[in-house]
Amino acid sequence: MKIFVEQLIPILFLTASLVLIIPLSSAAVRTDTEDLDNKVKNFLDSHDWGWGNMNVPAVDGQTLHDIILKNNYTIALEIGTSTGHSGIWIAWAISKTGGKLITIEINERRHREALENFEAAGLSEYIDARLGDAHTIVPALEGSLDFVFSDADKGWYKNYLIAVLPKLEVGGCYTTHNVSMGRGRRGRGGNRSYMDYLLSLPNLETTVDNRGSGLSISYKKSK
Ligand SMILES: C[S@@+](CC[C@H](N)C(=O)[O-])C[C@H]1O[C@@H](n2cnc3c(N)ncnc32)[C@H](O)[C@@H]1O
Repeated sequence: MKIFVEQLIPILFLTASLVLIIPLSSAAVRTDTEDLDNKVKNFLDSHDWGWGNMNVPAVDGQTLHDIILKNNYTIALEIGTSTGHSGIWIAWAISKTGGKLITIEINERRHREALENFEAAGLSEYIDARLGDAHTIVPALEGSLDFVFSDADKGWYKNYLIAVLPKLEVGGCYTTHNVSMGRGRRGRGGNRSYMDYLLSLPNLETTVDNRGSGLSISYKKSK
C-alpha cells in the first residue's frame, strides 16, 4: 500500500502541473496573437489615408489574407512589394499559419519604406524582403511555394507565371493583380494576352474577383 501511495504522489503532482500549465501557456499564445492582431489592425487603419504607391485596395488585401488562412498556406511569394500594403495582409495571415513571405521590389525607396512599414506593423519576422529585379530573382528561387501574388510589371506577368508554376505545389494558389475577365478583357500592360494564357492552362482553375482592382485567383489542380 505504501509503495502504491509513493508511486501515486508523483503522478498526481505531474497531472496537477499539466492541468495548471497547459491553460496558462495557451492563454499566453492567445494574448500574443491578439496583441499582434491589434498592432496590425491599428497600423492598417492609421495608413488608410496614406497608401499611394500603387498599393492594392484593402478589399484585395483582405482577400489575399483570407485565401492564405483558409488553405493554411505557409510559403508565400509576392512579386512587387512597393511600400508593403499587400505584403502586410499576406504576412498577417502567414503569422497565423507559421510560414514565411518572400517579397521582391526593384525600387530602393519603396523597398526601404516597406521595411519600415513591416516593422511598424509588427510583422518583420515573417517577411524576407528582397531588393532587386524580379526578372532574375524569381526564376532563381529554390524550393516550393504554396501561395503567390504577382503585382509588379504587367508586361512580365506571363514570364513570372511560367517561372513560378513548376515550383507551386498542387493545391497551391497563384494570384495576379489588375486583371479582368469577360467581354473585351481590356486592361493595362498586356492584361488580355496574359489572361488568355492563364485561362488556357489545364492544370489551373481560375476565377477573377472584381470587388477591388481585379484579382485573378488560380488554384493548381495537378502537376
Ligand atoms: C503595383 S506596385 C505593387 C503594390 C504592392 N503589391 C502593394 O499593394 O503594396 C508594383 C511594384 O512593382 C515594382 N516592380 C516593377 N518591376 C519590377 C521588377 N522587375 N522587379 C521587382 N519589382 C518590380 C514597382 O517598383 C512597384 O513598386
